[in-house]
Amino acid sequence: MQISLNGRVALVTGASRGIGLAIARQFAESGAKVMMVSRKIDESVLVDFPEGAQVAVRAVNVGDLGVAREVVAETIARFGRLDILVNNAATNPYYGATMGVDESRYDKTMQVNLKAPVFWTQAVWDSAMKDSPGVVVNISSVGGLRAGGGLGVYNVTKAALIHLTRQLAGELGPTRVVGIAPGLVKTDFAGYLVENFGEQIAKTVPTKRLGEPEDIANLATFLVSDAASWITGETYVIDGGAGVGGAG
Ligand SMILES: NC(=O)c1ccc[n+]([C@@H]2O[C@H](COP(=O)([O-])OP(=O)(O)OC[C@H]3O[C@@H](n4cnc5c(N)ncnc54)[C@H](OP(=O)(O)O)[C@@H]3O)[C@@H](O)[C@H]2O)c1
Repeated sequence: MQISLNGRVALVTGASRGIGLAIARQFAESGAKVMMVSRKIDESVLVDFPEGAQVAVRAVNVGDLGVAREVVAETIARFGRLDILVNNAATNPYYGATMGVDESRYDKTMQVNLKAPVFWTQAVWDSAMKDSPGVVVNISSVGGLRAGGGLGVYNVTKAALIHLTRQLAGELGPTRVVGIAPGLVKTDFAGYLVENFGEQIAKTVPTKRLGEPEDIANLATFLVSDAASWITGETYVIDGGAGVGGAG
């Protein structure tokens, strides 16, 4: 199956590194035009993109909700349309018992990880997908599926995103809304775990390795393509088999 995103225009948040950068690059390699958003981003991130790729970068904080409509308008003005939104940007300013969190870090986590996906989707819906159905991808986490560890507040946002994906699939259809719930992927976000426990954890995963950003980009590219045109409302776990256990 050859996947082509020719003629499609995508907006990817959190695209300066890690999973978001890999998704943006693979979309561009598949023929899409891409608007890439992060707080700090410039054209140096485009170094591995295909020559002639039609890509733009914009430095914004997705938590500044008002800016969503500006970026959507800019994307449509530049590329003529908007077919795909990837809500990928996320933050985790607090690690520890949920009862120990202070209000400001709680609010920041909710703002970036949950509120931003709602209002960025609303901006894209109002300006583009209401009249021309597209695809929204929400990047969740396996942490949104089960309790545990010191990531309780972050995981609440990821669990809510899984439900938001179901809810919006019903409301926005035929625009498709899909989710991806990665396990441990080698990015800055998971840097501490990967550096200190990565090898140990990899041994317990059936595929015997941690995730690479490209693993997640492969799934995202499939999900936004026409090959996935009957898929909506679901969130797909991609974790090298970690969740099924049984591998030592
Ligand atoms: N890595 C994992 O093991 C793992 C596992 C499960 C789920 N995830 C999810 O995967 C997604 C991507 O994470 P990652 O691992 O690729 O992390 P990463 O390498 O730290 O990248 C995060 C990206 O989000 C951007 N970002 C952060 N806060 C932002 C804000 N307020 N506004 C705009 N952009 C913002 C960052 O750029 P700036 O700093 O320039 O803003 C960066 O581009 C997240 O939703 C994360 O929850 C990751």
